Amino acid sequence: MISANLTIDPAFRVGAVDRRLFGSFAEHMGRCVYTGLYEPEHPTATGDGFRGDVLDLVRELGPTIVRYPGGNFVSGYRWEDGVGQLDERPRRLDLAWRSLESNQFGVDEFVTWCEQARVEPMMAVNLGTRGVADAVDLLEYCNHPEGTQLSDLRRANGAKEPHDIRVWCLGNELDGPWQIGHKTAFEYGRLAAETARAMRKVDPGVELVACGSSNTGMPTFATWESTVLQECYDAVDYVSLHNYYDPVGKSVGDFLASGVDLDRAIDAVVATADHVGARLKSRRRLQVSVDEWNVWYVSDWDEQAMVDWVEARPLIEDTYDVADAAVVGSLLISLLRHADRVGIACQAQLVNVIAPIRTETGGPAWRQTIFHPFAQAAALARGEVLRVEPRVACYDATDHGEVPYLDATATYDEESGAVTLLAVNRSTDQDLELSAELRAFPDHRLVGATTLAAPDVRTTNSAAHPDAVTPVPNHRVTLSDGWLRAILPPVSWNVIRLAPDTNPATTPS
Ligand code: AHR
Repeated sequence: MISANLTIDPAFRVGAVDRRLFGSFAEHMGRCVYTGLYEPEHPTATGDGFRGDVLDLVRELGPTIVRYPGGNFVSGYRWEDGVGQLDERPRRLDLAWRSLESNQFGVDEFVTWCEQARVEPMMAVNLGTRGVADAVDLLEYCNHPEGTQLSDLRRANGAKEPHDIRVWCLGNELDGPWQIGHKTAFEYGRLAAETARAMRKVDPGVELVACGSSNTGMPTFATWESTVLQECYDAVDYVSLHNYYDPVGKSVGDFLASGVDLDRAIDAVVATADHVGARLKSRRRLQVSVDEWNVWYVSDWDEQAMVDWVEARPLIEDTYDVADAAVVGSLLISLLRHADRVGIACQAQLVNVIAPIRTETGGPAWRQTIFHPFAQAAALARGEVLRVEPRVACYDATDHGEVPYLDATATYDEESGAVTLLAVNRSTDQDLELSAELRAFPDHRLVGATTLAAPDVRTTNSAAHPDAVTPVPNHRVTLSDGWLRAILPPVSWNVIRLAPDTNPATTPS
């Protein structure tokens, strides 16, 4: 058994939990939109053609903001193809995913879907094949109240009120040679700056995200951010970070250390942005938008299979197991640990494409294992993130170095008094005995404790067994004399909730 100690004290604050940390991403890719979000022939379809079973699961998952329409897709997208009469919309080649795009779902459908899913829309503009003029046009279409050709077109298309989209991504991954309209850092930085300035003339209230690197393995990582931000630092609010974690070819122990890599990546982007800010003598501090993150079995992906031009070809529909759920939990902990500098984060993607929700066309929808850590963190991590500083032994995680067996963070909601502890036991074969000092919360009681684990870490959920992996109550948790003690099984994601006796939480575990 491994022992770990930590302290939960409201004095040790990292920063407020921005609700946008629990974002997601819906790209026109594979079956994310078509037969994921949108399937008019599905038995549960709403009057708008949205899958009702998926909407229910999205509301349960609890994302707060959803990025759209890409991803690589956006770099060849003409947004105006996706508005107006459905039967008049053109079919186009989607070069990013070698697919046929029917344009039956576009910006107006997306915003309506967001309203029904109770999420905030986050829109990306095409800075691959397009530029300033089209970005400004899309913003005018979406956010200008009325009285111009484009705002009146939106009204004629049924949206009388402006969509009022606050957060806009200035393109997608333009550092990547695979990106349509790939650019040098200087070219992109100039374009981002000019686009941002023009967009703010249309709507000064927008929040703008400049593209950082596609991943930390890019040869230009950090120099890309430095050059881009040198050009657009004062014009944008966020710089993006994308990072996926690939289990293929790694031991479970090494893979469970992925959160340490995300910690380092966020620290590197923050340091680079702050360095540019210092060089420019700016008083502004940019936030990081980790607007693509997840586990992705990327080495298993056969790109060569994308041969014919077809609609909604299944793409990267990875099936997740218990170890993947524990890693997703760790990545969420990493994001929360950086609550002072990460303002937005989007798990990529929402449905079918490396997603917490899977569907069968015409059939059921179900929760993948990774659904659960996201849903629990989104529901329960409220208020301020607290620095808990676990004291625990480390193990050798190859490329990641010495990594602690316990990954943990806590949140404290001053208003309700609720304390939530989120923890991952990274050991592959030993229970972890956690002791948490809670002297600062003398009146708190244990409200609930759950664990997601399985004897076989390769256990997955499926249409036939949708609840094979799900959080279950952990009965090996006690609270007495100001100490919380919990036994966390190997490779597990854990949530422990405390509340003041006077204000018992109502949500069941
Ligand atoms: O999420 C899948 C793809 O990964 C996105 O389209 C792209 O931005 C990233 O490389």
